[in-house]
Amino acid sequence: MMDKEELLSMCKRRGFLWRSAEIYGGEAGFYDYGHLGAKLLDSWKQKWKDFFLGLDENYHMIYTNNIMPHRVMEASGHVDHFSDIMIRCERCDSYFRGDHLIEQETGENAEWMGKEDMKESIKELELSCPDCGGDFSEPEDFNMMFTVSLGPTGQKTGFLRPETAQGTYINFRREYRALRKQMPMGLATIGSAFRNEISPRQVVFRKREFLQAELQIFFVPGIHDEKFKKKYQEIEEMKVNIRREDWDETREVMLKEIDDIQPFYLYHLGKMYEFYTDIMKLSSKDIRFRELSDDEKAFYNKIHFDIEVNFDTLNGWKEVSGLHYRSDYDLRQHQENSNQSLSVSTDDGKKIPHVIELSFGIDRNLWSLLDKGYKDDDRTWLDLPKEITPRQVAVFPLVRKDGLPEKSREVFDKLRSDFRVTWEKSGSIGKRYARNDEVGTSYCITIDYDTLEDESVTIRDIETTEQIRVEIKELNDILKELIYGRKKFKDHMEQED
Ligand code: GAP
Repeated sequence: MMDKEELLSMCKRRGFLWRSAEIYGGEAGFYDYGHLGAKLLDSWKQKWKDFFLGLDENYHMIYTNNIMPHRVMEASGHVDHFSDIMIRCERCDSYFRGDHLIEQETGENAEWMGKEDMKESIKELELSCPDCGGDFSEPEDFNMMFTVSLGPTGQKTGFLRPETAQGTYINFRREYRALRKQMPMGLATIGSAFRNEISPRQVVFRKREFLQAELQIFFVPGIHDEKFKKKYQEIEEMKVNIRREDWDETREVMLKEIDDIQPFYLYHLGKMYEFYTDIMKLSSKDIRFRELSDDEKAFYNKIHFDIEVNFDTLNGWKEVSGLHYRSDYDLRQHQENSNQSLSVSTDDGKKIPHVIELSFGIDRNLWSLLDKGYKDDDRTWLDLPKEITPRQVAVFPLVRKDGLPEKSREVFDKLRSDFRVTWEKSGSIGKRYARNDEVGTSYCITIDYDTLEDESVTIRDIETTEQIRVEIKELNDILKELIYGRKKFKDHMEQED
């Protein structure tokens, strides 16, 4: 089983990610992405946009501010409700999330607990401060939003947004008009979110500044969901792993067997699942939907399933994204608080649209790719989807003389506009393969003495370490076939035989 520290060490050494402000000792809950991490992030974002905006011609990208005025977050309910329960050690003054301490002790999810349950449980389990053994204070609410002051007097305040969603809701009316009042309408955004987590931990899993990709779909149930019903019929036999709130185990079921949930929800649930299996290429045994109980659900949700990944490095099943039916809660709140109508005209009169939200934590999703992909058996290598991996191709001269470096630069230049590609000449060829295996380079191209004679090169496959010989003039096309899955490496090998 992969160890978290081992994977993190590779990430730091090779340029994926590390703690922000490392040279000053770092600060819990903040991480930066290095050159390979940034490429992985960009390609994941692109795939996310291609896939989810591709679901409907009326789904679009928007970008909104990180800082939200006080009134927005008050209206959304975050000022009153966006809190975790905190406990303080009376001896050393350290702060903890009570549910995390209980979870560590019992191995059971304790996120549902209110202050009274938590107090009881801490007493029953005889928990004391993990740092100094001191006793805990009474559990208290802690609002997780970061307040920022606006302007020189500091009297006006806003918040760093704790979710990207609110920026979308407050722009609903503008976009609805700009898009000529078509419904359903989807507005997606990708950007930072900020939460003053009491105990940031587990690498990028619980950060104080993190990235979200969220798609908000606006529609009036019973009026605009015919479109979802039709699309749902095409996938209703799709099998998903799911754990309902009252089930003791995860079961593989067909979507149509979940007959108490409407098609608009199940259609998007199926599509999220497909994103994990077909785009992120995670094995279905490592992903599941888990339904949250009423106690666990966010305050704005009517139906709430999380997608969980079975992490090797983070002790099992953890949430990476969620599908939230927020009803008309958000637009209604903003309508009431802004005194601006956010309703739409329908044959049945004016209605406030409902929202179904597809919410992804990007950092957690990238970590799931690294966690599931990093393999340390007879060699160390990173098995990433070829369309997402930060480096798709590496080009090397076999030796650093006799015109091979120059020839390899020619090949490198020919590939640059089609692929994420690197050129390397230092170290032995074996070391170059090993370095590229570790960061998930799908194909290594070697230029040797035969290349000078017959304009051919070798392609080495990261999965099998097998090689084929191909002509330079066909190289771009062959790599495209391999990367986009139109042909398999073994088909090319058989062709050679
Ligand atoms: N707009 C809905 C929303 O924000 P959420 O479940 O609170 O819902 C969505 O967050 C996703 O954001 C989660 O599934 C998770 O992947 C990610 N996320 C939440 N808090 C996080 C944190 N402190 N660090 C990293 N990712 C986080």
